[in-house]
Amino acid sequence: MASFTPAARVQVLPPNFWGAMDREIARLSLEPGARMIDVSKGNPDLPTPEAIVGAMQAAVADPANHRYPSYAGRPALRIAIAQRYRDDHGVDIDPDAGVAIFHGSHEGLMSAIIALTDPGENIVLPDPGYPMYTSAAGFAGGRIVPLPLAEPGYQPQFEALDDLERASILMLNYPNNPTGALATRETFEGALAVTERIGAAFAHDFAYSSLGFGGRRPLSALAVDTGLERTVELQTLSKTYSMAGWRIGFAAGNPSIIDAMKRYQAHAFSTMFGASQDAAAAALGGDQAASLALVEVYERRRDLVVSGLRAGGWDVIEPEGSFFVWLRVPGDAVELAARLREEARVAVAPGDGFGERGRGHIRLGLVQDDETLMELIERMSAFARRN
Ligand SMILES: Cc1ncc(COP(=O)(O)O)c(C=O)c1O
Repeated sequence: MASFTPAARVQVLPPNFWGAMDREIARLSLEPGARMIDVSKGNPDLPTPEAIVGAMQAAVADPANHRYPSYAGRPALRIAIAQRYRDDHGVDIDPDAGVAIFHGSHEGLMSAIIALTDPGENIVLPDPGYPMYTSAAGFAGGRIVPLPLAEPGYQPQFEALDDLERASILMLNYPNNPTGALATRETFEGALAVTERIGAAFAHDFAYSSLGFGGRRPLSALAVDTGLERTVELQTLSKTYSMAGWRIGFAAGNPSIIDAMKRYQAHAFSTMFGASQDAAAAALGGDQAASLALVEVYERRRDLVVSGLRAGGWDVIEPEGSFFVWLRVPGDAVELAARLREEARVAVAPGDGFGERGRGHIRLGLVQDDETLMELIERMSAFARRN
């Protein structure tokens, strides 16, 4: 059997940090002993609301959805996206020129970075940040310029870019994964000022768009760049409606960016299943009560885990949004995560996977029910007492 060497564009991709951890979790889960509590990822445990499942069932039975869908995406879905922007953020979006639909925001983010970046161009990425931005930069052949996010509040330290002359794109993500921080108007005003100076597009990853706590609705970057001068925002139905497995996301914003993304998408990924699009239109266009109920669930879990782990001796940074809890830890976080897996049967994400500034931290996803989270608090508190 011949053995093939991957092309250079695949060879530059970083090793999959999470894949190795997954294998370790799977190995330990087979060993006798307590059940592994896995909070290492952001994979929602709650089911998709029934009305959306019903809409999908009907859409799958519709023969119109058995044919190739159009490249432009369903008008009903694009109109529902524009309507949500109007209702939730007071932002006007053209459902034709200002919206693109993707198989999840992962594909949208990949499209934005690849469609706007030539090999060798600078790409500004938040540190800590969601790891796939780095993979997308690798595919594009871009040069990563880290933008430090600093405490308190994990806001971008734009002065770190003072010597940067040009970049293709600057990425931010709020509510933030992994830190749980929220953006303010100043966050986005700062991003707009810098991107204007360096000629870059501003891409805002708004994956946790619904998940703000204490009654705070997370701010859309398009509510700050109201003229859509240079911003594209990426959203997903994965978290807002617990639809991570369905793979539906979208982008909205500056029409020239949307056009470039769509052009890349059409060539690289073709079109999306019409039934998924119909179900997404039902989710975005329908009653939002189920989505609001999800926010309440995550907020209750946040309160439980933050107070429980603090009482157990952990240094917890209270999240204002997203469904992650970010903890400062002493020493090497990768080693600590390995010990938590082995000794407490709790799988967490070491901060190192999110960049240089993730070191010395671990991330927990609030993606288990209350009872399991109570067990997690007990196990982690006992671990802290022993150490
Ligand atoms: C910050 C962030 N962006 C994007 C995504 C990708 O979401 P999806 O591809 O499910 O839309 C995730 C998923 O965890 C995320 O945490």
